[in-house]
Amino acid sequence: MSVLEATPQCDAGRAEPDGRYPWMNISRRLCSLLTVPSALALVLAGPAAPSAASAPGPAETARQYVVTGPATVQQRSQVARTGAAIDDVRTSGLKVTAIPSEVRAIQRLGFTVEAAPSPAPAPAPTRAATSYHTFAEMRQEVDSVVAAHPQIARRFVAGTSYQGRDIVGVKISDNVAADENEPEVLIIANIHARERLTAEQALDYIGQLTDNYGTDGRITDLVNEREIWIMPMVNPDGQVYDMTSDTSSGRWWRKNRQPNSRSVGTDLNRNFAYRWGCCGGSSGNGSSQTYRGTGPESAPETEVLADFVRSRVVGGKQQIGMFLDIHSEAELVLWPFGYTYDNTVPGSMSADEEAAHRTIGRELAGTNGFVPQQSSDLYITDGTTIDWTWGEYRIFSYTFELGGGSFYPPPSAIDREVARSREALLRLTDYADCPYRAIGKESQYCAA
Ligand code: ARG
Ligand code: ZN
Repeated sequence: MSVLEATPQCDAGRAEPDGRYPWMNISRRLCSLLTVPSALALVLAGPAAPSAASAPGPAETARQYVVTGPATVQQRSQVARTGAAIDDVRTSGLKVTAIPSEVRAIQRLGFTVEAAPSPAPAPAPTRAATSYHTFAEMRQEVDSVVAAHPQIARRFVAGTSYQGRDIVGVKISDNVAADENEPEVLIIANIHARERLTAEQALDYIGQLTDNYGTDGRITDLVNEREIWIMPMVNPDGQVYDMTSDTSSGRWWRKNRQPNSRSVGTDLNRNFAYRWGCCGGSSGNGSSQTYRGTGPESAPETEVLADFVRSRVVGGKQQIGMFLDIHSEAELVLWPFGYTYDNTVPGSMSADEEAAHRTIGRELAGTNGFVPQQSSDLYITDGTTIDWTWGEYRIFSYTFELGGGSFYPPPSAIDREVARSREALLRLTDYADCPYRAIGKESQYCAA
């Protein structure tokens, strides 16, 4: 590999050591003998487009495409392995967001790639035209909820983003100022900037819990018996960038706003420290939608979130019993692991742990109509939030993909879409004391 590492044209084999391109094993050998254009021509027998993913080069711009052909999870993972972000799988083709080099890699797999229809032109995103919260409005809402319910709601700042914005949350519990010995729940949203509905779901849940405390018996019990941490916009720089746009369809921005060697942005949901970059479920190309960063927690926002979770170890015990990472738009309830197709993993996912995840996941999906599955049943990812929260701390963990039909559903759809998952959030909160209750093994695992 020393020759290859010194040869920039052959850098792709090093940047994607997990065999992102099936032909790379051959081309690794050819690279040392041949110039790259002739090696590519030999191997691809097609137009020798310079591989933009290989050598350092200009930033590439992503847009949305429809990929037809992939039918199995292995084929979806092949698409994900190019670095393209898979946005939705329910349509007849996969909706993906990809850069040109990824489009070519998907075509080399034998699949058809077409530009997705452009979103309809829409008016400028004034507050009147869209009722999605801006970052500033989210903060105002948090401040007013906390002011109105000081006994049960407290604002916290977990840390700051790359550009210095606060990563804000609300803690909801009785005696909220005290750290009581109660099972904890952590809910985060908007880690992907364009997934706008997700912040609305988190804000709605804050409203549900605080407005109905004292009148709704079930919510009163949950607030009394849990400590619930909700962070509506954990990628504020990306969110602000996405919304600062001259169309209400936004900039289609997913990542944070940290510059990298090629472009801007790390995919925070590929930057977590459990099996980071292990398995072809993220990209080493800074232009990619799924760029994993220079190392685990290389993005400040990832580190802030991980530090927060680490800070909830009290007396040697992780207090958080349930974690939810809210995304959109594929209508899914997903659980770990994403890095492997295996349902159980010796030492990190036992049969009972898997069964409890699956049983709760199916129950939650039964309330919102989403599809429940292990996250790798969708496609392989690595460095995601839930692989880390489970793998590192054994926090029962879910990723929701809300609906809405796009990253930017019309504001008129917010109430309807958010209402769908209210019950699921309440049940998830309830399970934080003993997820094994779902499989009838409370006495075995949760006895005091
Ligand atoms: N669409 C989300 C993302 O790309 C969720 C990924 C779900 N995990 C998985 N293994 N497919 O980050
Ligand atoms: Zn997402």
